Amino acid sequence: MEKIIKDLNTFLSDLNVFYRKLQNYHWNVYGKDFFVLHAKLEEYYDKVNEQIDEVAEHILMLGNQPLGTMQDYLNNTCIQEAKNEKIKDCAIFENIIKDYETLLKKVTEIKKQADEDNLYATSSLMDEYISDYMKILWMLNQSLEK
Ligand SMILES: [Fe+2]
Repeated sequence: MEKIIKDLNTFLSDLNVFYRKLQNYHWNVYGKDFFVLHAKLEEYYDKVNEQIDEVAEHILMLGNQPLGTMQDYLNNTCIQEAKNEKIKDCAIFENIIKDYETLLKKVTEIKKQADEDNLYATSSLMDEYISDYMKILWMLNQSLEK
């Protein structure tokens, strides 16, 4: 049980930092795809925000304490923050593809652990995220095809 709580809290940290990063990009994006990407980034961070609440409440449901401070999130995340500066649309695509791949790898590992621990609700929650990130990655990669 302890390992999965630690992993869920690391995932929660990733989501919190990723939320800030996506909104930072939403503000700082420029280039010919501005309109598309500005709107798409908002859709992404709204979804991540829902996932933040779901994961934190899931940790509570399992009888444990979710991390709740920015300091904790920064100390535990694998996601690298974006600088607060203008960024070209194509650079954002490459960057968030890497982040979604990181998240996909993490939720897949959590699902495996949840299955070992017979934590069915955790396992099925991870299924939702696996599908979500796979779909987003497929679409992002399609957009890079020439
Ligand atoms: Fe906005």
